[in-house]
Parts: sequence; structure tokens; C-alpha cells
Amino acid sequence: MPDAPTPKAARLSSPHRHRGHDVSEARDAATDAGRLWGGRFTAGPDEAAWQLGVSTHVDRQLWRQDLDGSRAHARELHRIGVLDAEELQHMLAALDRCARQFAHDEFAFLPTDEDVHGAIERWLVDELGPLGGKLRAGRSRNDQIANDLRLWCRDACDELVALVGALQQALTDQAEAHLDWLAPGYTHLQRGQPVLLSHHLLAYVWMLDRDAGRLRDARDRLDASVLGSGALAGTTLGLDPAAYADHLGFSRVTENSMDAVASRDFALEVLSACAILAVHVSRLGEEIVLWATAEFGFVRVGDAFSTGSSIMPQKRNPDIAELVRGKAGRVIGDLVSLLTTVKGLPMTYDRDLQEDKEPVFDAVATLRLVLPAIAGTVASLTFDRDRLAAASVGGFALATDLAEELVRRGVPFREAHEVVGEVVRLAESKGVDLDGLDPGELAAAHPVLDRGVADLLDPRQAVDRRDSSLGTASSAVRDQLRRARAAASANVAADRRTS
Ligand code: ARG
Repeated sequence: MPDAPTPKAARLSSPHRHRGHDVSEARDAATDAGRLWGGRFTAGPDEAAWQLGVSTHVDRQLWRQDLDGSRAHARELHRIGVLDAEELQHMLAALDRCARQFAHDEFAFLPTDEDVHGAIERWLVDELGPLGGKLRAGRSRNDQIANDLRLWCRDACDELVALVGALQQALTDQAEAHLDWLAPGYTHLQRGQPVLLSHHLLAYVWMLDRDAGRLRDARDRLDASVLGSGALAGTTLGLDPAAYADHLGFSRVTENSMDAVASRDFALEVLSACAILAVHVSRLGEEIVLWATAEFGFVRVGDAFSTGSSIMPQKRNPDIAELVRGKAGRVIGDLVSLLTTVKGLPMTYDRDLQEDKEPVFDAVATLRLVLPAIAGTVASLTFDRDRLAAASVGGFALATDLAEELVRRGVPFREAHEVVGEVVRLAESKGVDLDGLDPGELAAAHPVLDRGVADLLDPRQAVDRRDSSLGTASSAVRDQLRRARAAASANVAADRRTS
């Protein structure tokens, strides 16, 4: 077996650089203060190993949560007598100073910092001397990181629910502005039955409402404190898990320290809610792209959400709707990435779990961009009333109405379906729609049709006949709109973030 490379050998061969510093030089010059371990080792880590393990570029995003956890921990250490009153005050004041540095983007990470937890402890020791080293008692980065990510996800869920609410509001505004406008309703992207444009737009409001519900559910389930778990088994110091929950605003405590440090299903739930949400807005983006084509011509996307072509001067492209559609792929990828990371892990904490943060951060950051952009796009849409109305009647869209009228006149639906099929075939052969057939032709198809079907074939009346609570009738859609508004406002108001 060859010897493990010394740091120096590794340094000479390693091309790795970190944030513009030569890491090895910096680590030679500095002590290993940013590392939280090392006592049992005679040599420092190999350069490549160190580079693989460093996570400050990712987990620095957790500074606020890490400091909140540390404040709670300092208070617990005081309660059990590890910090006296004066030490607690010094500690809390230092944590506040540290938070200010982060908030002003002035906290200096060193190349020797392995992760955000180590960086903050290194800073505290610089600041407070030996007192800074007292904070680590009774906790481990294993419970620390689980705590930090739960706190981060809790805020992210609140933020996303509110952003979903804003998109719902853009949709309900458009639905309200176009009440009574006809539109074609499709199945298989073939015209099926006429609907109100508002009914179509509100359909997205309810899809999004379930997305908000999934985020709320995920938030409720992750709302449990893990501190006190230590590395995996709890601690010997008498730290009180419920006290941490109080300090950090968690509604309860996890039941089992091993579960607390090993599990990431809370992050998976957030990611799956994000992925489904991204898929829903992707479908909306796709419809905008489709509806903005010359072929459909149902909408014009506002200038602020359209782009031109560098070569074709006439182009007006719905790039934002396309990007929204495109971003769904990456959010789905984020979910699959973490599922794959977790699937083979033995209990409890495994370092693989360090990979949990990037997909979560990425999915949330992506939706933070996507949701306002699609909300703005929706708000910018100008609909073409005539084209929508014309498309709502074509393609024998009222054939079902005719068949249901036959049912009302006593004909079994199975027979009515056949009869109307023949009527459609006849109309098609004559090159007309159903309203282009004369009464004699209809009566010939079935005797009960001799009473005429004129108002039956009026699309507005066809829409208004569908007047149950979930139907597309104007009266029903007005009620639905009120419920949609309330749902949207409740989501906008759901943001409980304090910082
Ligand atoms: N940076 C680590 C993570 O993100 C923190 C926990 C490290 N724990 C450990 N035992 N090495 O998961």
C-alpha cells in the first residue's frame, strides 16, 4: 500500500483552488482553527479530500439559522450551569455581532473553514477566547445541521406559499377581468366543450392551491425541534429538547434522537411539493406559449415578458413562459437528486447527507425566480375575445349537449351517442357545424329532434347550462371566483417569517 499523500504532496499535485485563494498556502499559514476535529489525527487531511468535504460555499446560507440555534444552545448551557450569567451575556452579544457581520456580508470565511458551523466557532474563539470553545458542549454538527435545515425549510415554505398566493391572485384578476368570455375547452388538445375563459384560468388557481397546501403540510410536519440529539443518541448533560423548541419556535420535539439526525424526509417533502408546483407552473407556461402562437392567437404576452430575436426582427417570443417550463426540469432533478442520496444510507447520520442542501436551496431559489415571473406574465396577457369565441364553437363542441338533450327527451344515452355521431358525420359531409343542419335533417336523425334544438346550439347557453358548483356556468364561476380570491389571499397572508 502506498502511503497516504501528505498534505504537501497533495498540494503540489492539486489544481484545487477555493474562492481565489490557494487553499494549501492559506492552510499552511493558518492553524486548523476552522476544523472541529483533528485531535486524534497525526496528519492533516489530503488536499483533495479536504476540497471534497468543504461546504462553506453552500452552507453559508444557513448562517441565520445556525446562529439562532447557537443562541438557544447558549441559553440551555446556561440553564444547566455550563455557562454562568456573565458568560451567557458575552456569548449572546458575540452571536449578535456575528449575525451583523453576516447580514452586512462582512463575515470572512477562511480557507481553513470546513463548514459554516466550524467557521462560526472559529470566529467565536477569535472573539471570546476559551469561552468561544464552550458552545460546542452537548451538541454535534449532526443535530446542528438538521436543526438549521429545518429552520431554513420552515421559512422557505412560508415564503413559497405567499409567492404561490401572488400567482393565484394574478390568475383570479384575469379571471375576474374576463368573466363571461367564451373559450374552447380541450381534451387531447382537440376542442371538446365550450367553457368560460375564467373557468380555465381558475383551474390553475386550484392546482396551485394544492401546491400551497402541500408546502403547508410539509412545514407542519417539519416543525419539530431536533436539538439535544447530539451526534445520534442524546447527550449526558441534561439539555432539555423542549427548551430548544421553545427558543426556536418549533411546535414540538422529535421523538427519537436517531431519527432526528438521520432523516431528511422533511426536505424531501419540501422538494416534492416544489417539484409538483414547478410542474404545474410549467403547464401554465406551456399553455401561454401555445396560446400566443399565430395558430391559436388567443393571447398576446406583454412586452415586459416577451423577447425579440437577434436575427428575425418580427419575432415576439414568449421566453419567460418557456423558461418557466424549462426550470421545472431542474426542480424535478433536485428532488430526484436527494431521493437518490438518501436511499441507501444506513442509520444514522452519514456524510452523504451533506449533499442535502444544494438541491433544497436550488429548488427554492428557482421557484423564487419562477413564481413572480409567471405571475407577471399572466398579469401581462391580453386575450383576443373574438378568436377565443370563434374557437369555442367550432369542432362540433356542442355534440355532447345535443346528446344530453336527447337523454332529457327520453332517449337512452347509448342510443343518443350513436344518433349524434351520425348527425356529426352528416354535418361534416356537408361542411357545416351542427347549427348548419336544417330541422328536417335533425328530425330524420331522431324523431325527438323535431322539436328543434336552436338554443341548445348557442355556446353561451351551453356554458350556462353547466351550473352546478364546479361547472363553467357564469353563475357558478362567479361563486368560484370568490372562493379562489379567498384561497389566494389566505396564501399571501401565510408568510409567518420573522426575519
Ligand atoms: N457539513 C455537514 C453537513 O452538512 C455537517 C455535519 C457534519 N457531521 C459530521 N459528523 N461530519 O451534513
